[in-house]
Amino acid sequence: MRMYDIIEKKRDGKELTEEEIFFFINGYTKGDIPDYQVSALLMAIYFQDMTEKERATLTKTMVESGDQIDLSQINGIKVDKHSTGGVGDTTTLVLAPLVASVGAPVAKMSGRGLGHTGGTIDKLESVPGFHTEITNEEFIDLVNKNKVSVIGQTGNLTPADKKLYSLRDVTATVNSIPLIASSIMSKKIASGADAIVLDVKTGAGAFMKDLDDAKALAKAMVSIGNQVGRNTMAVISDMSQPLGLAIGNSLEVKEAIDTLQGKGPEDLTELCLVLGSQMVVLAEKANTIEDARKMLEENLSNGKALEHFKTFLASQGGDATVVDNVELLPKASQQIEVLADQAGTIKTIIADGVGTAAMMLGAGRATKESEIDLAAGIMLHKKVGDAVQEGEALLTLHTNTDNVDSVVKLIKDSIVITKENVEAPTLIYDMITE
Ligand code: URA
Ligand code: CA
Repeated sequence: MRMYDIIEKKRDGKELTEEEIFFFINGYTKGDIPDYQVSALLMAIYFQDMTEKERATLTKTMVESGDQIDLSQINGIKVDKHSTGGVGDTTTLVLAPLVASVGAPVAKMSGRGLGHTGGTIDKLESVPGFHTEITNEEFIDLVNKNKVSVIGQTGNLTPADKKLYSLRDVTATVNSIPLIASSIMSKKIASGADAIVLDVKTGAGAFMKDLDDAKALAKAMVSIGNQVGRNTMAVISDMSQPLGLAIGNSLEVKEAIDTLQGKGPEDLTELCLVLGSQMVVLAEKANTIEDARKMLEENLSNGKALEHFKTFLASQGGDATVVDNVELLPKASQQIEVLADQAGTIKTIIADGVGTAAMMLGAGRATKESEIDLAAGIMLHKKVGDAVQEGEALLTLHTNTDNVDSVVKLIKDSIVITKENVEAPTLIYDMITE
């Protein structure tokens, strides 16, 4: 078999066989096939697309290129949730203890990563003492005992994806549905999930800005998951404005605590109930979405979800008293309000603009080497559709730095106030199950 023929075949729009996909992935991972030939194939895939069968084969082969996490010692069906990323997305912090509180096991492998705020692990590390450096045995024991645990990335997962992603980054081939879908799904499958709920975001703060692109990506991922024997569904949700009110690490932990007490922002609460109900049904802890939702709502109001969060934090070294006393979380030295220049209704809060502003305050990493300020971030006081008076606070900056002029400018450019009537945006656009 020759790489040249595989490139030519895809260039001409033909379907690659399993053997051809194995040959290219394994050859590239081992270093036998050079970057320039793989670059050419990636560009051919970018223009010619892949069939559903090719996408599933590509994903399976990437999974098999490295280690796979074995969660078989955990009782029950392990359902993982994956979000395609956005601004101030506090859902994982809420969903992990909430879903666990109705008996569905949550075995979460998470990372730090780059972005507007830290990853789930950074956020959780705002809780003094909390850590995710635990052994695989401890991780499995904790999920069996408490139904929830979060572990840092371990093992050599999907090395093929790591190499391909770096190459795509420098060859203008990141933005390809079959390549994105196989990249995301290979990582989820290698981390051991039996079933997967995807939260595909759309809007200004999302990877897929356009609703049709978000749907196409969701369909591609659901098809891959189901073809490789993992029950998979996707929710398409709004990321035109940030989710909830908090953007920042310790601010989002506080927001999660509020939400777990049933006092959280409406949009964050609703999205967690929608995603959580799907997870509970896939875990076979309820027969219908309606039953699952009722169970989750009950545990938000009776304190059980919050109790699970405390147990989860304490069992990984965290000071669980922060839940009852949020003053113990890292706090910025300054709180600076940004005021509205005019009265009216909020028309737009551009999610990536506000997200970048939070990152400039230190809430996220611009490069792998950047340090995160766990206390830094933004608390919104208004969302799209809300009325505002002239001089009223739109949001509060939480900062340990003095010069916030460029941050304030970016925020003012990201928030539009109008005299017209504005409706709050749709939160859930679609559900994709096949
Ligand atoms: N996130 C991923 O993990 N892979 C992609 O290709 C794009 C986004
Ligand atoms: Ca939030």
